Amino acid sequence: MSIGVIGGSGLYDLPGLTAVEEVRLGSPYGEPSGPLMAGTLAGRRVVFLSRHGRGHTLSPAEVPARANIHALKSVGVRQIVSVSAVGSLREELAPGDVVVPDQIVDRTRGTRASTFFGGGVVAHVSFADPFCARLRPLLAEAARSAGARTHDTGTYCCVEGPQFSTRAESDLYRSWGMDVIGMTALPEAKLAREAELCYVGLALVTDYDCWRRDDPGTVSAHAVADVMRRNVDLAREAVVRLVERLPDDFTCPCQEALGDAVMTGPEVAVP
Ligand code: ADE
Repeated sequence: MSIGVIGGSGLYDLPGLTAVEEVRLGSPYGEPSGPLMAGTLAGRRVVFLSRHGRGHTLSPAEVPARANIHALKSVGVRQIVSVSAVGSLREELAPGDVVVPDQIVDRTRGTRASTFFGGGVVAHVSFADPFCARLRPLLAEAARSAGARTHDTGTYCCVEGPQFSTRAESDLYRSWGMDVIGMTALPEAKLAREAELCYVGLALVTDYDCWRRDDPGTVSAHAVADVMRRNVDLAREAVVRLVERLPDDFTCPCQEALGDAVMTGPEVAVP
């Protein structure tokens, strides 16, 4: 069993990974974002995948999320830590902070392939708690012990992008109670649940989006990259500490998500 790490903007490798084997896999959903880097970290098997591909060539809507999740599962990954840059919609979530979100709101356009089902097989997985409730506290503890100012909960607003939001949108998301904003946690989280994998987000705050009228500048891609560069070692250390903390026999209801989800089957006669 392995732990998967999906690296977002700014996190393109895991330097602590040793004995690395580059695994190139196809999938019924096409090619993943890039090769899987499978190796050893803190004595555990860890598989790293760069979400946006080598050279950052895939924009959020182009990330082949189904191929990525399928490939990670097929090499034995059971838990995924998804690292991403996010904007802050709250004064108290400052650039450099880490948020471990517990909720998510889908503001993508709905065109990203976000299910493995259909085509004759119908399933409705439970998604009330979109991030793994057992793994989240371990990740928050790991991030804190790595030295990050860590927020244990938060609602992640997943927008379509690739443009950043307007001020009106940013104000709206704040009024709806959302905490951070990003472009990539969906459909990953949905697909991980359908694949019965635990999925948690290490959201690194890089900016205040554009809602702060007192902010001299609004968010820009280069500002995001700059803050990520300065904090990427923190994210890596948090991942190492999570890997160290994860018990070998970690089990979780995420691993049985399909147990009561599949509708398709022989019709059952109602007595
Ligand atoms: N990623 C990092 N900052 C962001 C922002 N403000 N909006 C959307 N995605 C982001």
